[in-house]
Amino acid sequence: MSGEISLEVLVTPADRRAALERDVRVGLGAGDKVLPPVWFYDETGSRLFDEITRLPEYYPTRTEAGILRAHAADMVAASGADVLVELGSGTSEKTRLLLDAMTAAGSLRQVVLLDISEEVLVEGAAALRERYGVDVHAVVGDFRLHLEALAKGERRLWAFLGSTIGNFRPDERRRLLGELAGAMADDDHLLLGTDLVKEPERLVAAYDDERGVTAAFNRNVLAVLNRELGGDLVPERFVHRAVWDPVAEWIEMRLRSTACQVARLDRLGLEVAFEEGEEILTETSAKFRPAGVVAELATAGLREEVAWSDPDGDFRLGLSRRGSHAA
Ligand SMILES: C[S@@+](CC[C@H](N)C(=O)[O-])C[C@H]1O[C@@H](n2cnc3c(N)ncnc32)[C@H](O)[C@@H]1O
Repeated sequence: MSGEISLEVLVTPADRRAALERDVRVGLGAGDKVLPPVWFYDETGSRLFDEITRLPEYYPTRTEAGILRAHAADMVAASGADVLVELGSGTSEKTRLLLDAMTAAGSLRQVVLLDISEEVLVEGAAALRERYGVDVHAVVGDFRLHLEALAKGERRLWAFLGSTIGNFRPDERRRLLGELAGAMADDDHLLLGTDLVKEPERLVAAYDDERGVTAAFNRNVLAVLNRELGGDLVPERFVHRAVWDPVAEWIEMRLRSTACQVARLDRLGLEVAFEEGEEILTETSAKFRPAGVVAELATAGLREEVAWSDPDGDFRLGLSRRGSHAA
């Protein structure tokens, strides 16, 4: 088996530009300033995120990988899957632990990767094809829009790792998980990675590292706006902030304007004024409690069958399938 790569583009550069224009008009045009985190991930942003995952302060990737290393064989056996579908796949590094287990079980037939960032997706797909000699279908898409467009199948294991689900607010999570449940077949399983609530100091440090990589990642969104929308935002005039909200139980990443300033976005014909100290909310990263995850899955029509955690209870991976808890 040598395997082939097929590439499907559901988000063209023109679609991406139109969505960015819409988000910037809405998010920076009036009121509290906000940008959705999807715009972090151009090529530079994806590389910076990869660097973040290796920082000493950033425990989630290491911890999730540790859980996968310890339990991937059980996850694969419990799912009975022969196709792995990964949402927001990025570099697909941790995914290899699942694919190793599927290979050892002799069940690996196909990999489907979906990510908004084409460069990282294509590289990740090539690396997996080479390592496993398996067919890899790479989809440039938005998992908020394109789950139904993924080819139907059964006995698929849908991996949604990295606590990416935490980047969505509760109502968006409800919608996304509901759509995921709708796209899954009865024999499919979802493996969902969620970062758990812990001491605020550790959470804040994970999003505000000493070397300033997360700050560079955060500010990179301004470079994306400059390049795509003919902007003149000066990244050095914004400082990175990571703030824990103990009520909502999420980390907010923000960019705070260090001066009273006006930036132009020529392609939108938009001028954006910032007061000194005014902030753009660029990401929320919700932290979860196990019972809350189970409840959110249940609301979406998914029943969690089994879950694994690390000894310190920092991170959690749960395996669910369609169905109600009463069933
Ligand atoms: C937090 S990173 C996680 C990457 C990897 N799964 C991991 O666990 O390390 C989020 C990934 O999701 C992708 N992404 C973010 N928003 C997306 C969207 N709306 N649709 C598809 N991919 C998205 C990004 O390009 C990035 O690769």
